[in-house]
Amino acid sequence: MTVPERGRLSDESGARGEVLAKVVVITSGKGGVGKTTTAAAFAAGLALRGHKTVVIDFDVGLRNLDLIMGCERRVVFDFINVINGDANLNQALIKDKRNDNLFIFPDFADARQGRAQARWGRACA
Ligand SMILES: Nc1ncnc2c1ncn2[C@@H]1O[C@H](COP(=O)(O)OP(=O)(O)OP(=O)(O)O)[C@@H](O)[C@H]1O
Ligand SMILES: [Mg+2]
Repeated sequence: MTVPERGRLSDESGARGEVLAKVVVITSGKGGVGKTTTAAAFAAGLALRGHKTVVIDFDVGLRNLDLIMGCERRVVFDFINVINGDANLNQALIKDKRNDNLFIFPDFADARQGRAQARWGRACA
């Protein structure tokens, strides 16, 4: 994987050009192996190195990245709101309080899961 340097990166041939963003997908066929933890740590690391970073939770209906990032009480709009056009990206992105380069894009959680997660968040606080 090549991490872009200040908005530029090399393609396969080594040619350099302007890029808007680079996407890193963290996925696995197996559950509970550390995907979300890795995504959170990796995103925080990129942001600390000066890269403007958005970490996106794609665990539709079962989000927990917001809990790991400590912003679960700041979630107003989520991925589904943006897809449905009920909110725009700027409204949904949550700016990390520790790093100005880091933004969290939370996924959808239904009302029951939301309440369960809130309880879990308070228990861990
Ligand atoms: N490197 C690690 N060493 C030990 N424990 C870890 C490590 N990474 C994650 N964990 C722990 O493993 C558990 C699962 O981690 P995590 O939620 O990140 O996995 P996941 O792959 O996203 O799970 P899911 O498939 O449910 O989304 C958590 O309790 C987490 O704290
Ligand atoms: Mg996960």
